[in-house]
Amino acid sequence: MTIDSGLNKMRRGAAAMAVTATLCTLAACDRQHSIPAVASAETTGAASAIHPEIWPAIAHVPIDDSPIAARLDQLLGSLSVEEKVGQVIQADIVSVTPEDVRKYRLGSILNGGNSGPHGDDFAPAPQWLALADEFYLASMDTTGGKHAIPIIWGVDAIHGNSNIIGATLFPHNVGLGAARDPQLIRRIGEITAREVRVTGQEWTFAPTLAVVQDVRWGRSYESYSENPQIVHEYAGEMVKGLQGEVGSPDFLRGAHVMTTAKHFIGDGGTFEGRDQGDNRASETALRDIHAAGYTAAIAAGAQSVMASFSEWQGRKVTGHKGLLTDVLKNRFAFDGLVVGDWNAHGQVEGCSTTSCAAALNAGLDMYMAPDSWKGLYANTLAQVRSGEIPMARLDDAVRRILRVKLRAGLFEAGKPSSRQLAGQFDLLGAPEHRAVARQAARESLVLLKNAGHLLPLKPALSVLVAGDGADNIAKQNGGWTLTWQGTGTVNAQFPHAESIFSGISAAVKAGGGKAALSPNGSYASKPDVAIVVFGEDPYAEFQGDVQTLEYRPTDKRDLQLLRRLRGAQIPVVAVFLSGRPLWVNAELNASDAFVAAWLPGSEGGAIADVLFAKPDGGVNFDFKGKLSFSWPRTPDQVTANPGAQPPLFALDYGLTYSDAGELAALSEVVPKRNDTSTATGTYFSAGRPGAGWKLFASDANGKRQELAGSLGSAAGNNLNVTAIDRAAQEDARLATWSGAGSTALVIASAAPVDLQREANGELALVFDYRVDAAPSAAVELGMECNDGRCRGAIPIDPQLRSAPRGEWRQFAAPLRCFEKGGADMRSIAVPFALSTAGTLKLGIANVRLDTGRKDVQASCP
Ligand code: BGC
Ligand code: BGC
Repeated sequence: MTIDSGLNKMRRGAAAMAVTATLCTLAACDRQHSIPAVASAETTGAASAIHPEIWPAIAHVPIDDSPIAARLDQLLGSLSVEEKVGQVIQADIVSVTPEDVRKYRLGSILNGGNSGPHGDDFAPAPQWLALADEFYLASMDTTGGKHAIPIIWGVDAIHGNSNIIGATLFPHNVGLGAARDPQLIRRIGEITAREVRVTGQEWTFAPTLAVVQDVRWGRSYESYSENPQIVHEYAGEMVKGLQGEVGSPDFLRGAHVMTTAKHFIGDGGTFEGRDQGDNRASETALRDIHAAGYTAAIAAGAQSVMASFSEWQGRKVTGHKGLLTDVLKNRFAFDGLVVGDWNAHGQVEGCSTTSCAAALNAGLDMYMAPDSWKGLYANTLAQVRSGEIPMARLDDAVRRILRVKLRAGLFEAGKPSSRQLAGQFDLLGAPEHRAVARQAARESLVLLKNAGHLLPLKPALSVLVAGDGADNIAKQNGGWTLTWQGTGTVNAQFPHAESIFSGISAAVKAGGGKAALSPNGSYASKPDVAIVVFGEDPYAEFQGDVQTLEYRPTDKRDLQLLRRLRGAQIPVVAVFLSGRPLWVNAELNASDAFVAAWLPGSEGGAIADVLFAKPDGGVNFDFKGKLSFSWPRTPDQVTANPGAQPPLFALDYGLTYSDAGELAALSEVVPKRNDTSTATGTYFSAGRPGAGWKLFASDANGKRQELAGSLGSAAGNNLNVTAIDRAAQEDARLATWSGAGSTALVIASAAPVDLQREANGELALVFDYRVDAAPSAAVELGMECNDGRCRGAIPIDPQLRSAPRGEWRQFAAPLRCFEKGGADMRSIAVPFALSTAGTLKLGIANVRLDTGRKDVQASCP
């Protein structure tokens, strides 16, 4: 196969046209000629105005509501205003109890990525089901004349029922896009729904229908494709798989669950791929690119849509009436419910997490208010009473929620554990489910290079399996796997999964060869071939955003490993795990065969299925995957822009065994990058404050004195700072407090930074420290706003006291600890203030924002 960019452009153009054509037939609209109003609105600056008439009307499969219509009216008419407000609020199970539900009549609960029954993210499956019963029973309690309205529980079943230990884990969407098989997508939806029903939930926050245009976005792997046509073709099938067919007796019930088409709209098109950022596309681009999945999902009967965290032309979608009401509800005639994203209403102009009439008034029907639900409940109730939220709008929201619950038969379904499939725990990771996951993983593999027809390999070989992804189930699964970011787990927590190495080992053994696992690539006797499994470590929202597509710009160990093996004349097969296409020219050059394996899920054995021929030499499974995202030629080729220089591998690229798989040497030159990284994350490193920051001593009255060169004595000589060595000469500081009054070592800037996203993204304040003399009194670590207008601090002397003397250690405190203590994350001028009135001798280095998962998980001191 040749890499033909012209062909790519044509294909892309054709695909885009196909979507437009479908939409325009339905809408009888004309993209080029009938919409002058938009062009003029855009040029006159009425930027985020919406023109519903240019959006397509959707040909829905009609839902027969006649059996529920009278009951819906009657129920709605009988509810008190408190009950209605309860229905529009969804709380997270770590912040709400069944008792709260009994009292506040909340309409829904969810478990966020890091939430589990009784605070245990790894709680065994039976506990999820038991908790579902408890919440259900609370919602059905009619004590005091309240109405029984079954609660509905939403989960992020993102790639299978992926919060639950033992569940089948499918490849993430980026891989499914490469499989190009809508029927398979439907099957995956069906199985996911079955496994969700086992643990008692009835609603999933999936599928993600982002049409990602800039893969710097960390959520790119949740997207099927950069091409709207592919997303369009998959969306309807996934919805049908999850929910069942509209009109069939088991629509939304039995083995099915309710879906969420998310995140409406434009999440995949934010500026520079920033999570929760601003989509600056024109209205027509929003329609033609980003709406592609919704038109299909809604036509197939999707019962909920999640409003996006992101902005469109500078305005938060969660508060955008034009998009939520005029387009989605009126033009698309969507009659399900619009749910918010995680406290996203708090980001709407003029709102906070506990007060946001604007979102409901714009068309949101259910607030996702994980930990903010109680305050939100009180304020929303007051806003309805004052008329700020019209009763008609509240009624419409509640009607939509009740309609969905009635359609799903929840009023008659009985408690979750009594329903079909509930408690059949052996269905989690059942062999027939895993077989489909394995097929999906197999078909998602894209072969990028195959010099000398190295693949398929004969199994009767001595195979070295190297790389840190070889025997690492968390890594082959990526984010949204047991935990939010997919980190902090070990292979033993995946009882129904196989690592890539085990799959290879089994195939090789069956074929008469032998496989050895050696993550660092060392070997005693020279193997016939090496398979190196490497790639991105798991990440999810925000933490996965990058600024360049260069794979691991500052850590070339994987490349060295490939080169070392190849240098020893061992043929090298690279198996690359990633949530997106990345610039790997050097790694491609250093491999004989190169497979883009994406995030294949629980079935590591799928890799061996395709890498190896049958023992008799016959073809086992050839490669089928074709790129659904174009592969970058340079590290800065970040956007899916068909007009720009041709990608290295175009959309649809993917070799099979018989293709000539040679690849000419690729340029390894890294273009000089303007480092646009914000100075917000590095406060002190290499012996000096990060760009924009300064080091001060602050006395008991809060009077600051700058420490020039980050050295010197201040606060009446009470604090003395000298240079010491940590990893390099004078890269650290030794601070000595002599106990003469409260004094702080402070890092500050005149321009405060907004750390809200970092706090929500679970970043921590991290630094290296060495206790030379333990504190004699309390020590606090604080973060502050400008001029001390806000402050949040945590005690750290217990940790300093228990640390061994003279040894460097790492300290990490989640930003939310400072937030809880009162620091306003929107405006932090002092990200680090270490204060004590006692004596202390402390080495400090590398003050920064970081993830450091294990530490981040720690509770606030
Ligand atoms: C994500 C959603 C997810 C929700 C609940 C949000 O932060 O953006 O995709 O469904 O959390 O976990
Ligand atoms: C939750 C996720 C959520 C995220 C929002 C996390 O704490 O576990 O479900 O999507 O916060 O940023």
